[in-house]
Amino acid sequence: AEHPPGPDTEGQVLVASNRGPVSFTLGEDGSLTARRGGGGLVTGLSALRPGTGTWICAALGEGDRAAVARFGSRLDPADTGGQAVRMLDIPAGTFEAAYNGVANSVLWFIHHLLYQTPFEPVFDAAFEAQWSEYAAYNAAFADALTEDAAPGSAVLVQDYHLSLVPGLLRERRPDLRVGHFSHTPWAPPELFRVLPDAIARRVLLGILGADRAAFLTRRWARAFAACCADVLGAEMSEADGLTVTHGGRTTRLGVHGLGADAEFLRERAFRPDVDERLAALRAQVGDRRTIVRVDRTELSKNIVRGLLAYRRLLTDRPQWRGRVTHVAFAYPSRQDLAVYREYTAEVSRVAEEINAAFGTEGWTPVVLHVKDDFARSLAAYRMADVALVNPIRDGMNLVAKEVPVVSERGCALVLSREAGAAAELGEDALLVNPYDIAGTAEALHRALSMDADERDRRTKRLSAAATALPPQTWFLEQLAALRG
Ligand code: G6P
Repeated sequence: AEHPPGPDTEGQVLVASNRGPVSFTLGEDGSLTARRGGGGLVTGLSALRPGTGTWICAALGEGDRAAVARFGSRLDPADTGGQAVRMLDIPAGTFEAAYNGVANSVLWFIHHLLYQTPFEPVFDAAFEAQWSEYAAYNAAFADALTEDAAPGSAVLVQDYHLSLVPGLLRERRPDLRVGHFSHTPWAPPELFRVLPDAIARRVLLGILGADRAAFLTRRWARAFAACCADVLGAEMSEADGLTVTHGGRTTRLGVHGLGADAEFLRERAFRPDVDERLAALRAQVGDRRTIVRVDRTELSKNIVRGLLAYRRLLTDRPQWRGRVTHVAFAYPSRQDLAVYREYTAEVSRVAEEINAAFGTEGWTPVVLHVKDDFARSLAAYRMADVALVNPIRDGMNLVAKEVPVVSERGCALVLSREAGAAAELGEDALLVNPYDIAGTAEALHRALSMDADERDRRTKRLSAAATALPPQTWFLEQLAALRG
């Protein structure tokens, strides 16, 4: 009775992810403010409604811990944006090692091919200690799911933080239908094998414990299968959809390319708070063209090379000086990690250098904002002439899909060919090699020079492709496939 079945989902669903739909900050006066979590994972799973199921996530910091201490771990849907959430108070040391250590300093780097940044993994005793905390953190989720799941429930486990959970549930609760979803790319075997063999095996076997392991694109699903073949000697087949067979069990692989939520965006992007921010941005840039980017300040998002490409544009194509502004929003992320703090500082430094080199009294070439403000992001989407989305590698990248939906001017999209979104938007975006600064500068020039009709036509097609699988359908499609 605690989890009445939802109308659309025919039975109980549990979602498990590190970051939940809401995160609390603790004010100096002891007050708690709830904020929606960022990233594609949260956007995709926002389709989960109370009555449909429960979302199990970790308490992420002192704010969340204080909220659990005050309200208990089962939060009131009124405080979570309408979702039934159980927030696990994982011991701080375990969380720190699992999240900042194993998940974000090793697995994230491997899947995003961030080996050219300071990625010097040392798999020594300190790492072994972190790894056992990662295992403990995964076990805490498996315990909570085992406790909460009614017989035969569907469980949707999310992302690289929780790769061991499906395997643990397979041992403890063979009655459950378990899905795992990766919101990241998956590394090719050559890089995945950087992990110590025993750990590489445990990550893969953990995910193979699911009935179905799903990815954002075919490319990532195939890379996962290739790692299973290479590391485990598993058999992959494409006879009846992509499958991986190992130790007598077969796991189905699936692909669900999360799309933008057109209905939500078109309503949200035209509210007065967004209008206000649009007017403020307009006042700042005048009638100049804008190149817009919106990202977490994330190494894989390749923000610095994006700035260098803009600098190259101003150098090689002086006709744009004074006629274009780069509106760059880079919101703080994972600031507990030194390389992220350094990267954040580098983004500001390079932006300042460009402004010092090219700026004039009436023109600031780069307008950089670092304070997270969703309404202002939407305002930038609306005003953009060009959107720059140039990640080194990205599971999908929802910004590339959101901009065309709310763009008011017809927006040319310069898109990294290494973003999952390129598989769906490649025909109408201008694709770039994210490492190629000159090539990206040239694409920016082409994008700025595109005539209005062509931009308009492309934007319409981009918007249609970007909204083909909205979050609600993405979510239900996975459930149906899991149960089918
Ligand atoms: C990516 C990951 C998500 C993560 C999000 C934000 O989208 O796939 O799992 O939640 O980034 O990162 P954070 O570390 O702040 O949760």
